[in-house]
This record gives sequence, C-alpha cells and structure tokens, in this order.
Amino acid sequence: MRQILEQLETRREAARVGGGQKRIDTQHSKGKLTARERIDVLLDEGSFEEYDMYVSHRCTDFGMEENKVPGDGVVTGWGTINGRLVYVFSQDFTVLGGSLSETHAQKICKIMDMAARNGAPVIGLNDSGGARIQEGVASLAGYAEVFRRNAEVSGVIPQISVIMGPCAGGAVYSPAMTDFIFMVRDSSYMFVTGPDVVKTVTNEIVSAEDLGGAKTHTTKSSVADGAFDNDIEALLKIRDLFDFLPLNNREQPPVRPFFDDPARIEERLDTLIPDSANKPYDMRELVLAIADEGEFHEIAEAYARNILTGFIRLEGQTVGVVANQPMVLAGCLDIDSSRKAAKFVRFCDAFNIPILTLVDVPGFLPGTAQEYNGIIKHGAKLLFAYSQATVPMVTLITRKAYGGAYDVMASKHIGADVNYAWPTAEIAVMGAKGATEILYRSELNDPEKIAARTKEYEDRFANPFVAAERGFIDEVIMPHSSRRRIARAFAMLRTKKLETHWKKHDTMPL
Ligand code: HXC
Repeated sequence: MRQILEQLETRREAARVGGGQKRIDTQHSKGKLTARERIDVLLDEGSFEEYDMYVSHRCTDFGMEENKVPGDGVVTGWGTINGRLVYVFSQDFTVLGGSLSETHAQKICKIMDMAARNGAPVIGLNDSGGARIQEGVASLAGYAEVFRRNAEVSGVIPQISVIMGPCAGGAVYSPAMTDFIFMVRDSSYMFVTGPDVVKTVTNEIVSAEDLGGAKTHTTKSSVADGAFDNDIEALLKIRDLFDFLPLNNREQPPVRPFFDDPARIEERLDTLIPDSANKPYDMRELVLAIADEGEFHEIAEAYARNILTGFIRLEGQTVGVVANQPMVLAGCLDIDSSRKAAKFVRFCDAFNIPILTLVDVPGFLPGTAQEYNGIIKHGAKLLFAYSQATVPMVTLITRKAYGGAYDVMASKHIGADVNYAWPTAEIAVMGAKGATEILYRSELNDPEKIAARTKEYEDRFANPFVAAERGFIDEVIMPHSSRRRIARAFAMLRTKKLETHWKKHDTMPL
C-alpha cells in the first residue's frame, strides 16, 4: 500500500512542477506567479480541489509524443472565496506557453459545465499563447467549445477573466465573452494578432504594450474593466469583487454584516453643488457619502470617466451605481459612456443587483465625431438596458437632467421605481441659455431682452418642481438625508417582482 501511495504522490509531484523549475524561474523573473500560486492567493486557504491533474494531450504530430506534461497546461477545479463556492481554471504558461489543446479545452469545459449545473461563478486566470499550434483544428474546436459555453452561461453565472500574461488569438475571445476582464500592468497583453503579424499585414510598427497592454485596454478599447500592479493585487481585488456578486442569476447578492448607520446624515452634501451651474464637482463624493463605510468598488474607472459605474453596499446589500461625473466633459453622455453604463446596467439586471442612478447630465455630446460613430445607436444601448431592467431602481437627480439624457438616466418613464431630486435639480429640455436662443432668435441682438427671457425660462424650469407636480419625481429631498432616503427606498423595494413579456431574446441595438 505504501508503494501505491508513493506512486500517487510522485504522479502528483510531476503535475505540480508543470513545465519544470527553469520555466517556473523564468515566470517568477517576469514578476508573475505560477498557475498554482495564483490559485492559492485567489481562494480561501486549503479550499482548492483540483480535477484532471493527470490529463495529458493526445497529439502525435511535431514530436509532441515526447512533450507530454500531466495537466496539459491548465489547472482546474473548485474552491471557495470567503466561504462561497467558485470554479477556477488557471493556465500554466510554463507548459507550452499555456496554449490550448483539445484536452486543455476539455478540462475548462468540465468545470464550466459543473459551474452551470451547480450555480456558481467561474474565474479564469488566463496566461496563454492561444490555440496550440501543433494541434491545428483540434485546438480550434476546443476553443469553440469554450466559447459556446461562455455564451450559454452568460447571465446564468458570473464569469470573471483575469489576464495575467501574453494572451493571443482564442485566449482573448473567451475572456471577451465574460462579464469582467481585469489585467496586470506590464505583464499582461491581449491581442487578436501580435505586433509581428500587425507589422507583416499592415506595416504598422507597434509595441506589445501599445497594441494590447493594460493601459490600452482600460483607457482606449474598453476591453478590460480594470488593471492592477501585480498578480497578488489583482487576485485580492477579484476576491473583493466576488463578495459583491450573487453565485448565480436565481440567487440574491450576499448580505454583509454592516456597522454604518443607514440614517447617517451628511451635512457636507448640502453644499456639494457649486453656486455656478457650470462649475463641476466630484460625483464620487456623493457615491462615497451614500455607501456603507464609504466603500465604492469602481468598474472601468479609467474609461469614459464622464460616467461612474461600480458597486457599493447599502445596509450590507450590493447596489450597482451609475452616476454622471460633472468633472469630466461636464458629465455628458457620449458613445463611450453610454456603452460603459449599458454594459453595467445589463450585468446588474441579469444578476438581481439593484441599481442606483445619480444624475447630473447636460445632455448628449454634440458633434460630427459622435454622429459619424453612431451615438444614436450607442446611446440607445443605455436607454434599452434601463428600459429592460426589472431590478429595483432608485434615481436621484442632483443638478442637471436635460433633454433625452433625462429620459435615459433611469427616469420614472423607463422603469425606475423611486425618483428623487435635490432642490438644486433642473429638469428641462435644455439649459436656459440654449432654450431662449432658440425660442427667441429674433431678439438675439437685444441682450437685455434675452437676459429677461433666460431668467423667465430658468424660473420656470430650473427646478425639480415641474416634474414633481406631475409625479415624475416622487419627492424633493434634502441633500444631507440622501443616504437615509435611498437606503429606505431600496429596503422598500426588496420584494419587487416584475414579469415581462415572453420572448426568445430581445433585438437590442448592438
Ligand atoms: C504552442 C506555444 C504557443 C502556441 C507559445 N508557445 N505559444 N506552443 N502553441 N500557440 C510555446 C513556445 O513555443 C515556447 O515554448 C513557450 O510556449 C513560451 O513561448 P515564448 O514565445 O518563448 O514566450 P514569450 O516570448 O513570452 O511570447 C509569448 C507569446 C508568443 C507572445 C504568446 O509565444 C506567441 O506569439 N505565441 C503565438 C501566439 C499565437 O499566434 N497563437 C495562435 C493564435 S490563433 P518553449 O518550449 O520554447 O518554452 C488562435 C485561434 C483561435 O488562438 C481563434 C479563435 C477566434
């Protein structure tokens, strides 16, 4: 018996060293952890149960018979994060560059299927050169099996991808179909084709960093939702994010014990809005003042900074926040901010996360750049996402809510449950100056008359009461009591149930 046990331990040992000590050292020298070390940081200590560590590939071409490593370049299994179930795969770059073979794909598919059946999220730690070149179509087929499952479980269980090395080809398309992508600065890259292929095809000379580094994907392409300085920081932040999410679409998000008084008064909010309508202020201050313990887990922070998206807790419960940010582009809606917020709203709605919308929006950004690139379609994404959402929704207008953007930003008309405004709110088709210049064009050469007209328009519309008189705003609230009012509104909405028409799926503007 002892011999049998020793054999088992020898086999396990062979799998644990992956591509060998030399390659592990190279991985470490690049500041990267190994696939197994990453799992140790991500999961609760001792909770990981590994599957398929003896699986190896079946390829016989290009001398691959001699190149078999147990586990085949990916570590898979399940464990817990703060006691809650999660499935994980972690690609091992030390084994053939973490490239995906037929069997490597089967291992990932196995845990995805288990995750779907048992209703728990999948976290993928990606560090892979893409399809295993030696396997040809077998590896492409493997990728397609993973892609199909990504689509099938989308909206059923949360899927999170962390990019932790150079990921190319198929290695970026599977993450692209998951809910969140995070990257590690200076050691992770994502591209469909790398710099060498780019040079051959287009003559463009570009570095890996510029083509597909963390900065590119968090600020320009919006492919990634966040970037971290190293593997450990990334994995710890994923643990934080995980705590906000339900395990699946039939469960509610977890409720944390809370020690922050929901009725906490914030006097400083009474002076948050500057005297001048054109002066910005930091909407993040309001988010932090409302949130339990001032904690805001921001998503896509570096992209479309004119809108904030992220998670807070209210009375220990997860709430998704969408907020115009007057500090950037006056908080207007443009293509990027509409897409960013639409994606976030859809995630929240799919996973029973109530949505708080904080509004200070001067309208849609005008201009040819916006029109040529389809602001109509992209703005409609946000309108569509809100209109379709059935989770509890509370909206607070702090200052401007002009034009179409008033409708879009979770107005009562498109489905918000409780709509509040501060006394400083201005709800109108447009700002007073623009409005009078259109309505009284013939008087434009008479500044005194125009000033009087502008004042008249302001007196009539630069307040929340015209909307409140119609019931479009449920109550005009004191800024200092915002946390209490919003927490109570969400508490009241906890039993909300809203059935929608049967359909196969929608045809949302894409
Ligand atoms: C087999 C691979 C591999 C691959 C890397 N390796 N990628 N083996 N298939 N796709 C192996 C290397 O041969 C090497 O083996 C080891 O992994 C480490 O690779 P290096 O090149 O030494 O590392 P590095 O310099 O860090 O460069 C990493 C890399 C580069 C940028 C990922 O290896 C690369 O460009 N690989 C090819 C990427 C690619 O084109 N993949 C196919 C995409 S097509 P040794 O034995 O020397 O250690 C695809 C189709 C699906 O994915 C598309 C669906 C939409």
